[in-house]
Amino acid sequence: MSGLALHAQGLVAGYTPEVDILRGVSIEVRRGEIVTVLGPNGAGKSTLIKTIAGMVSIRTGSVRLFDEDITGIQPHRMVRHGLAYVPQTDNVFARLSIEENLEMGAYAEPEPAEIRRRLERMYQLFPRLGERRRQAAGSLSGGERQMVAVARALMAAPRLIMLDEPSAGLSPKLVGMVFGKLREVRDMGVTILLVEQNAKAALAISDQGYVLAEGQDRIHDAAPSLLANPEIGALYLGIRRASP
Ligand SMILES: Nc1ncnc2c1ncn2[C@@H]1O[C@H](COP(=O)(O)OP(=O)(O)OP(=O)(O)O)[C@@H](O)[C@H]1O
Ligand SMILES: [Mg+2]
Repeated sequence: MSGLALHAQGLVAGYTPEVDILRGVSIEVRRGEIVTVLGPNGAGKSTLIKTIAGMVSIRTGSVRLFDEDITGIQPHRMVRHGLAYVPQTDNVFARLSIEENLEMGAYAEPEPAEIRRRLERMYQLFPRLGERRRQAAGSLSGGERQMVAVARALMAAPRLIMLDEPSAGLSPKLVGMVFGKLREVRDMGVTILLVEQNAKAALAISDQGYVLAEGQDRIHDAAPSLLANPEIGALYLGIRRASP
């Protein structure tokens, strides 16, 4: 028993047999934490969470979720092991209503009363979605769509949720709203693994951060230390050093 929510160890993985995209990545997420993965474009951030979700084949290494070995399990079975994944794009069904989108997230739950209960919980968390529940998801704003994608993943009642750049393309105000909601999700007892370009805002709600570069985890530290580290700020976070 490690007590970890997620433990990925020595992952080597890639999309084709010839090319390794992940070249030895290890990360640890403790229960109830928010952990952010940062890094330059092409570093392998999305590949890392897709690999954990079972969508990229693992050459060596292992993935443990709440002390259970889930290495190589097929993506559609991950839900039953308590893992949910929100991709960066195409994460809502535009022609379906908000409510239909959310119901699809609970496809593995046979009990209608339980699905109802989860829907109500989502509408408490995201009141705007409740007000518009019959509206087509395609007619929503970017921030509202992102909320639908997060809510749909939560409808599976996961223990750990992975999100790929949930703040991409949103205005600063909406970025704040999305991260505020993620904090509420964590407070509901769901552990969160986040990939983000918006490093400052993401680290502000995170416990720990990792920096990936060229398919390897190069830096790992507590989130406040990463934020305060000027070298890392300049190199990876897009934070400029104060002028002398
Ligand atoms: N489906 C795919 N098939 C083959 N190669 C891919 C595929 N998806 C990504 N790659 C390659 O894997 C490498 C890492 O890509 P990945 O999307 O994981 O980076 P990232 O860190 O998420 O970048 P970004 O910040 O731009 O989202 C890149 O060289 C990319 O070209
Ligand atoms: Mg990516």
